[in-house]
Amino acid sequence: MSNIAILYGTSGGNTESVAKSIRNLFDDDADLFNVDSIKIDDIKPYKYLILGTSTTGIGDLQDDWDSFLPSFSKADLSDKLVAIFALGDSASYSSSFAESMKVIYDAIKEKTTVVGFVDDEGYTYDDSSAVVDGRWVGLPIDEDNEYDLTDARLKAWVDQLKKLFV
Ligand SMILES: Cc1cc2nc3c(=O)[nH]c(=O)nc-3n(C[C@H](O)[C@H](O)[C@H](O)COP(=O)(O)O)c2cc1C
Repeated sequence: MSNIAILYGTSGGNTESVAKSIRNLFDDDADLFNVDSIKIDDIKPYKYLILGTSTTGIGDLQDDWDSFLPSFSKADLSDKLVAIFALGDSASYSSSFAESMKVIYDAIKEKTTVVGFVDDEGYTYDDSSAVVDGRWVGLPIDEDNEYDLTDARLKAWVDQLKKLFV
């Protein structure tokens, strides 16, 4: 069994497809869970968690995460390393770009170790609460406008995580 779990919530499939690409970059050595059907006990065996969500509303969390986050954030995450990625649309939602990752970050940051922060360089948007002290609290991905940058962004991020997930 892998020690990496990728948990994702998706409304239109983009976040699922990115979650699968991340698994591929770990040479398939990661287990995938859709949060629409996960149970909290499922994640207990994993030391490393990668959490993926799309952004809905104005900077809101994807609906299935909205239901799961309260129980997830109450679980014992103290011995885990957690990384977050979020899908967003930096053109149509330029003032709330990928903010859903901040909702997850705020719910877990006191309870666990969050890793995988990302430099802001190369992103074009007006505003995002998910940028803290000049860095994204996870990886933003824009499949609506910048799908041609996704592979390189994922590879750089997973390379960063591989150094920590040992
Ligand atoms: C109703 C709606 C609201 C959205 N709100 C935001 C938003 O506030 N910020 C953002 O960056 N993207 C927003 N998006 C864009 C989605 O997050 C983006 O298209 C994403 O790739 C969808 O991923 P999914 O197919 O996994 O659900 C919104 C999309 C929809 C349909």
